[in-house]
Amino acid sequence: MRSVDIIIKKRDKVELTRQEIEFFVRGYTQGEITDYQAAAWAMAVLLNGMTDQETTDLTMAMANSGQVLDLSDIVDIVVDKHSTGGVGDKTSLAVMPMVAAAGLYCGKMSGRGLGFSGGTLDKLESIPGYRVDLSTEEFRAQLRKTGIVLTGQSLDLAPADGKFYALRDVTGTVPSIPLIASSIMSKKIASGATAIVLDVKVGLGAFMETLEEARKLASILRNIGKLAGRQVVTILSDMNQPLGFAVGNALELKEAIDTLQGAGPADFRHHCIDAAAKMLLLGEKAPTMQAAIQLAEQTITNGSALEKLRVLIDAQGGDTSYITDPNKLPKARLIETVASPQTGYLSQVHARVIGEASVNLGAGRAKKSDPIDHAVGFEILGKVGDHVEQGQPLFILHANDPQKLQQARSAVLSAHQFSPTPVPPLPLFYEQ
Ligand code: URA
Repeated sequence: MRSVDIIIKKRDKVELTRQEIEFFVRGYTQGEITDYQAAAWAMAVLLNGMTDQETTDLTMAMANSGQVLDLSDIVDIVVDKHSTGGVGDKTSLAVMPMVAAAGLYCGKMSGRGLGFSGGTLDKLESIPGYRVDLSTEEFRAQLRKTGIVLTGQSLDLAPADGKFYALRDVTGTVPSIPLIASSIMSKKIASGATAIVLDVKVGLGAFMETLEEARKLASILRNIGKLAGRQVVTILSDMNQPLGFAVGNALELKEAIDTLQGAGPADFRHHCIDAAAKMLLLGEKAPTMQAAIQLAEQTITNGSALEKLRVLIDAQGGDTSYITDPNKLPKARLIETVASPQTGYLSQVHARVIGEASVNLGAGRAKKSDPIDHAVGFEILGKVGDHVEQGQPLFILHANDPQKLQQARSAVLSAHQFSPTPVPPLPLFYEQ
């Protein structure tokens, strides 16, 4: 078999066999297939798609590229949640500790920033020392001891996703249903989760811009879950505007900590409580959604979710003083409050434009080797439907480079559109 023939076959819209997919995934993971061949193949998949069978075969090949954890000797139910990617979507940082604080075992393999969307691992690495490359033995030992793990792809766990993910980020090959579905589900299968809530984001700042595409992705994710013997629940949530206020790694971590302290933006808090409640229901910790919501809320009011976040950071080598005092998190040198240029109702706060502006400030990568600037980003203060007065603060910019600050200011201003007449707020969820 030759990798170039597999690329040509996909370019020519011919269905790949399981053996060809396994050959390609194994070859790329082991370094026998080059980045340029894998990039050409990923682009052919993005342009020509994959059948459901190919997507399932790709998922299993990626999950089996490392070890597949069986955690049944530790506990029967391991819960997880994953988002398909958005702007300001720091949900996992708050939800995983909430659910673990309510007594469920939470084992999660996350990703880094992808395209214009942020990544949980980059956000967590705002804390010095935090490790995202746990081995399978470390994963198991930590889950047994603390009930919570939040790590990344490693040489042991879903290494194929680690490589494809970094490649897709910088080759324009992110928004592809088969590549997203296999990336997410390979991680979920490898890390041993048995009950998974998948948050499929829809809108301008999501990889699925329409409800129709999002429903299709949700259905493929559920099917792969069924074939792999996992319980999968999908929700469809809005990503036309950023979730919460903060966009950017350390800013988002701080907002998640604020939320676990009982503050934080209303939309983000509501989203987290809902997602946590779904996980508690799926993990059989509550008999009804209403009881699950109450339980999720309690973990915030009694401080147990914040304490669980501290336990997680400690277990993975991070400096927990950053949780006690989030003001220690990296800070940008240039902080500027930008005023609204006009009076009116916000009719659009374009999440993708803001996500791209944040990447350009340094919060994401243009090349695989690019370092991340954890300090930079935005606090986007207005939501669609809000009435704002000219001169009122519209967003706060955090930058480390004056030229990038200027570009970001004009990009984020252009992301805001105004209407003279009232505009209805956007829903948080479309389907749940
Ligand atoms: N999250 C992932 O893990 N992979 C994707 O491709 C998109 C979102």
